[in-house]
Amino acid sequence: MSGPARRIRSFGTSIFTEITALAAAHDAVNLGQGFPDFAAPSFIKEAAMRAIREDYNQYAPAPGVPRLRAALAARWERLHGVAVDADTELTVASGATELLHDALLAVVEPGDEVIVFEPTYDAYVPDIIMASGVARPVALRPPDWRWDPAELRAAFGPRTRAVILNTPHNPTGKVFARAELAELAALCNQHDTLVITDEVYSEITFDGAAHIPMATLPGMRDRTITIDSMGKTFSVTGWKVGWSIAPERLTRAIRAVHQFVTFTSSVPFQEALAEGLTLAETNGYYAELRAAYTARRDRLTAVLRGAGLAPMRAQGAYFLLTDTTAFGFPDDVAFCRHLCTEVGVAAIPTSVFYADPKTAPPLARFCFAKRDETIDAAATRLRKLRPLH
Ligand SMILES: Cc1ncc(COP(=O)(O)O)c(C=O)c1O
Repeated sequence: MSGPARRIRSFGTSIFTEITALAAAHDAVNLGQGFPDFAAPSFIKEAAMRAIREDYNQYAPAPGVPRLRAALAARWERLHGVAVDADTELTVASGATELLHDALLAVVEPGDEVIVFEPTYDAYVPDIIMASGVARPVALRPPDWRWDPAELRAAFGPRTRAVILNTPHNPTGKVFARAELAELAALCNQHDTLVITDEVYSEITFDGAAHIPMATLPGMRDRTITIDSMGKTFSVTGWKVGWSIAPERLTRAIRAVHQFVTFTSSVPFQEALAEGLTLAETNGYYAELRAAYTARRDRLTAVLRGAGLAPMRAQGAYFLLTDTTAFGFPDDVAFCRHLCTEVGVAAIPTSVFYADPKTAPPLARFCFAKRDETIDAAATRLRKLRPLH
């Protein structure tokens, strides 16, 4: 009987789909899936509506609307002092999700190994599998989410083609420090390895933590594919416009894939982002974004502490992790299921971000990209949380 290809049989339904469905069935306050439940900024919504009205409604050049590519390259150069050629080094596609897929298909040969750090964002391993590669996990260890240098060194071998890095990191909130990036860069330079770096939370950092792009480290510009997206930065996760910055030879390969995956991503939203980026340079948007997220993080921290949970420190992104063992549940999945069905708050068990869930610390991930009312509603529900025994 004909059926699904072997390559995708391990994929299953993502935990986000599962928890979102469970949250809806139990009318739970959804702090599971990572998306803002507040309004997107007016200036970007107006720009999108204007773009549609002015008939930016047909295919754009496959690598992206030229003025958007120019605006993104200019911002990168201003922030990081690294020049980017918008014509040959920058590609716009349908979100970071597509670019991760494009990048892996572009560089991985069958059987190549790709190092991923655990906990691992859910798309990476399926993307590696679809590119006929093999994922090689290396653990980040709580509470500081550092790798063991010996374990990282041992993960590099003759088949290592690339490392996937994510900073600021989902789900831990870690922002990798320069010394850590330098350690990884040294290994990549030594082993001639590429880095695919997912920096979709680049604008969401706290307490003065500096986001340092891997591509700015010595020797790394030529071996790094940087991926970012407008979804988190402008609170429009449904618009799906992302971009990659990579040296010309790698950009050519990414574009070769992109042209046959989606060809071009949504044009009015690309136009809106181009305008939004220009406006955000002078209207204080980025500082406001950081301040608002710092306040939300602090609000949810207080709520979780009030419920007897002990959230770990987050330096970036928009998630808090809490240990679940104090409540007597066998694991984080049992805790999150109970929390959703009996208490009425949805969170994500982080063991799903591990190849072998038994090796995972039992943590729950709570998203704070939420209105004050949502966080306060969760606080009311969490009063019902009691240890099992
Ligand atoms: C680490 C990480 N990478 C990529 C994405 C997806 O980005 P996009 O919506 O631009 O495809 C997300 C969304 O949650 C994410 O958390």
